[in-house]
Amino acid sequence: MSTSLHNSPTGIARLAFRHQFLGRSSGPDCSGSVSFPYLPPNTFSLKSLEGVRLSTVVKAVSGGYDQMEVDSSLSPRVNAVKPSKTVAITDQATALVQAGIPVIRLAAGEPDFDTPAVIAEAGINAIREGYTRYTPNAGTMELRSAICHKLKEENGITYTPDQIVVSNGAKQSIYQALLAVCSSGDEVIIPAPFWVSYPEMARLVDATPVILPTSISKNFLMDPKVLESKLNEKSRLLILCSPSNPTGSVYPKKLLEEIAQIVAKHPRLLVLSDEIYEQIIYAPATHTSIASLPGMWERTLTVNGFSKAFAMTGWRLGYIAGPTHFIAACNKVQSQFTSGASSISQKAGVAALGLGYAGGEAISSMVTAFRERRDFLVKSFGELEGVRISEPQGAFYLFIDVSSYYGAEVEGFGKIENSESLCRYMLDEAQVALVPGDAFGDDTCIRISYAASLSTLQAAVERIKKALRVLRPAVLV
Ligand SMILES: Cc1ncc(COP(=O)(O)O)c(C=O)c1O
Repeated sequence: MSTSLHNSPTGIARLAFRHQFLGRSSGPDCSGSVSFPYLPPNTFSLKSLEGVRLSTVVKAVSGGYDQMEVDSSLSPRVNAVKPSKTVAITDQATALVQAGIPVIRLAAGEPDFDTPAVIAEAGINAIREGYTRYTPNAGTMELRSAICHKLKEENGITYTPDQIVVSNGAKQSIYQALLAVCSSGDEVIIPAPFWVSYPEMARLVDATPVILPTSISKNFLMDPKVLESKLNEKSRLLILCSPSNPTGSVYPKKLLEEIAQIVAKHPRLLVLSDEIYEQIIYAPATHTSIASLPGMWERTLTVNGFSKAFAMTGWRLGYIAGPTHFIAACNKVQSQFTSGASSISQKAGVAALGLGYAGGEAISSMVTAFRERRDFLVKSFGELEGVRISEPQGAFYLFIDVSSYYGAEVEGFGKIENSESLCRYMLDEAQVALVPGDAFGDDTCIRISYAASLSTLQAAVERIKKALRVLRPAVLV
């Protein structure tokens, strides 16, 4: 049945139209209002959207030209996974902008800068020179050697090229690492607030995410004692993200040493250190790779990539480094999954690492701009009654506690109950797209991405402040 569907131009056209109507791009009746008239009422709950999409597909099959029923069930593994809210909100905001509604988008997790020209040129030259074939599964020797050099010089960790696997982005590197080391029932320890994908990836490999809460008053840094209390023989992987998405917190070396001492007491426990925001860090904060600490090299998988520091999100290039045994397992998974990353992007990656220590001037000018924006936002929201802030030390996100505004009733909108309804209110009333903290495991907060120009941020702050003033904090802090 599905063959006839795919072979039929009519069938394809029908499905394409349905996807568009469901809000993936601008709908026919979405002009003039930002209340998503073309989307289901709970616009952030993609569960409902997914359900609609599925039954639409079924209808297209049975209602179009083939009456045979289709089993629309999905694997329980996939059913257990939540779709990414950051992607959903970014898509929604983009659809609104395309519909002519002037939404300021501060939801996305990508730098607003262009890839530095010298990197882009390397990619263009790769195409011109016919460097367009499969590369070795783990990545080219040229790129893996450059990564080894970088990790030694900048992070103080020594690897050989066979201890590196290059993938289509750090996201793939992390997922493959989980597939490689977790068995069913293993526990993956994740400090909250966390990057949205960690718990879902753990679920996808049949592991159990164990969430470790942190607090804004302690800069969202994990308390080693809390970590210790959560560890047992099922604990397999501790995921660290520093600088952090969504909080911008940076783990100081001393705290990492304390964590390392606790980890070292548990023979089964490995660490996955996600260092993708490493270069976007604001002095005096400094980055420490946990693999460089005594006893940690053997049990750490270090993940990094090109998306954030080099503004290369679309090039899809990331990597993992670790002991040969684990990295060989990641390599095996990748060999049956996607094979090597793009040959063109790998050439660009070599050029990126050739920019010098920590990306040289090209990166430091971006970091200077991010810092200026961070300072502006911290000052602006710091002045606002009922908002709590922990000043981010890295990345390009501000994660602010706005829970004192929960409970407010807004005429024509309803009650602001949580981070999700607050963000929906912000999109409706202020036309600013933000991400609710509950997507990151902390419902008291919302995430503001400052990967936008200072003038855009100034406009956004005005709109947010105006919308918050309407609410007035229900409880003053
Ligand atoms: C903490 C963190 N890790 C990994 C990634 C994935 O990056 P990549 O684009 O290399 O897949 C992201 C992207 O948003 C991220 O925020």
